[in-house]
Formats: sequence, structure tokens, C-alpha cells
Amino acid sequence: MSKAGFAVLSLRRTDFDLTDPTAAAEWALDHLRPGDVVINAAAYTDVEGAETNVDAAFAVNALGPSYLAQACQASGARLMHISTDFVFGHGHSRPISEEAAPSPLGVYGESKLQGERSVLQLATSGWVFRTAWLFGPHGKCFPRTILQAWLAGKSLRVVDDQFGSPTSTLELAKWIRHALESGLEPGLYHAAGPEVLSWHELASATLRAAQELGHGLDLSPEVTPVPASEWPSQVTRPMYSALSSDRLLAQGFPPMRALGDSLRDLVSKIL
Ligand SMILES: NC(=O)c1ccc[n+]([C@@H]2O[C@H](COP(=O)([O-])OP(=O)(O)OC[C@H]3O[C@@H](n4cnc5c(N)ncnc54)[C@H](OP(=O)(O)O)[C@@H]3O)[C@@H](O)[C@H]2O)c1
Repeated sequence: MSKAGFAVLSLRRTDFDLTDPTAAAEWALDHLRPGDVVINAAAYTDVEGAETNVDAAFAVNALGPSYLAQACQASGARLMHISTDFVFGHGHSRPISEEAAPSPLGVYGESKLQGERSVLQLATSGWVFRTAWLFGPHGKCFPRTILQAWLAGKSLRVVDDQFGSPTSTLELAKWIRHALESGLEPGLYHAAGPEVLSWHELASATLRAAQELGHGLDLSPEVTPVPASEWPSQVTRPMYSALSSDRLLAQGFPPMRALGDSLRDLVSKIL
């Protein structure tokens, strides 16, 4: 039982493979009851790798969610599916709302877009939460990478002309819980952090958080800004993919914590 009073079952790939067309249905039959909620954060997230492993990306990001959506629909469970700002491409300069037309630039974004459309079509009581630039105490994330590189004394060159909405996984989890507890209408929502930053600004904010906590005060962090065009990559990434969460805020969702607070929290857990 979680602190919030939910009985939580955490699943791994070994419990069932999302790309197996019958696995989700079999698992659902054994485990799901009407009113249960399935949160799908599983995905093929290697944005570069997706360009060459197209079938694998579509199997996990597009087909997998459709199998899960059908299984949830059949068992009366609700599906909370996590999607991404990478469904958007060029041409944005203000936080993007749910009304904006997606235009993914690569296989990862295209496959995630197909997945979210399947969920909205097949799981009629489900939600799609698009989020962005996740960071948190578990697993790899950009602020952790920056912090570790800085502590290792590496010189840091970070892209300063791509902008997004860094989002704390802890804050996103609170919003998912709020969605379940508040009876949020099914549908598509943007659920991202309140600030718009470049990768360079996020790196600098992370190191500032470390300094504010008294770590490495004698070191002044030097982060060299570089344009995305100087970063070798197979993938064209959106230059601006910050998401507006106004729709959820208008539904009474409590604002996420300020980025600096979440970064200080993260840094204190890492160091
Ligand atoms: N990270 C971000 O900045 C970001 C931004 C926007 C949206 N998102 C979305 O947020 C969600 C979580 O992202 P993340 O960064 O936490 O991803 P992640 O660290 O790559 O984790 C993805 C998980 O999916 C599992 N998985 C992959 N293929 C599977 C399969 N065939 N069957 C069952 N499980 C499978 C992986 O299992 P293994 O460990 O066994 O491989 C892994 O546990 C995704 O939907 C992603 O699109 C992420």
C-alpha cells in the first residue's frame, strides 16, 4: 500500500513485454479489475536509436500502448499513458497547448504520437499526459549527468538554443495522483514544469543548486554554450518544445514546485 493509500503494483519488462500482442490481455485478465488504473511509462526512449531501429520503436511506442489500451478497455480499468513534447516539431516560440497540431521530427516522436492516438481512441476512459525533459532521483537524467560531469572536473559544453519545460518526476507523480483523485475527465493533457529553459540554462541552474547547498563552493561552474548545430546527432530535435499545462491548472491542479526547489531537492539526494 502506498503512502497515499493506493495498492501499487510495479511492473517490469519481465512481467510482460509490451510488444507481445496477447501479453497485456492475459495479464489484464489475471490482475485488473474495474476501477483499477494502469500507468504506462514504458517506452522505447532512445531518440537517436529509433532512427535506425524503427520497427522496435513503433512496436513499443505505438503498438504496445494499443494492446494495453484494449486490455484496459476490456477489463474496465483506466489507462494513464505518458507521452512526450517530441510529438511537436519546429515553429513554436510559446508554451504549446493541447490544441496545437503535432508535427514530429523523428521516429521517436512519430511512434509516440501514434501510441497516444491509439490510447485516446481505444481506451475511452483513459488519459494521455504529455510531459517533457524529465528529471528525478531515480535513473538517468540530464541534471544528474551534468552534476556528475562537473564533479569529475569535465569541461561542459551545453546546447543553448533548444528550449523546453524541465519537469520533476516527483511533481509529475503528484499530478498523476491528483488526476486519479479528482476524477479528471478522460483525454489529452500537457503536464510539464512551470519554467521554460534552454539545456544550457538547465545545466547552469543545476550547478547553482549544488553551490547553494554548499557543494564545491570554491569551484565556479563554467558551462560553455554551444548551438545545437554543433552537436553531432542523427536526429533533428525541436528548437522549442515547452508545454503549456494551463488546461490542467485551470482544472485546479496545484502548480508544480519551482524548478530551483526541485533541482535543490534532486541535488541533495544525489550528492
Ligand atoms: N525522459 C524524458 O525526458 C521524457 C520526456 C518526455 C516524455 N517522456 C516519456 O516518459 C516515459 C518514461 O520515460 P523514461 O525516460 O523514464 O524512460 P526509460 O528510462 O527509457 O524507461 C522506459 C522503461 O520502459 C521499459 N520498456 C521498454 N520496452 C519495453 C517493453 N517492450 N515491454 C515492457 N517494458 C518496456 C524499459 O524497460 P527496461 O529497463 O527493461 O529496458 C524501461 O523500464 C516514456 O513514455 C517517455 O516517452 C520522457
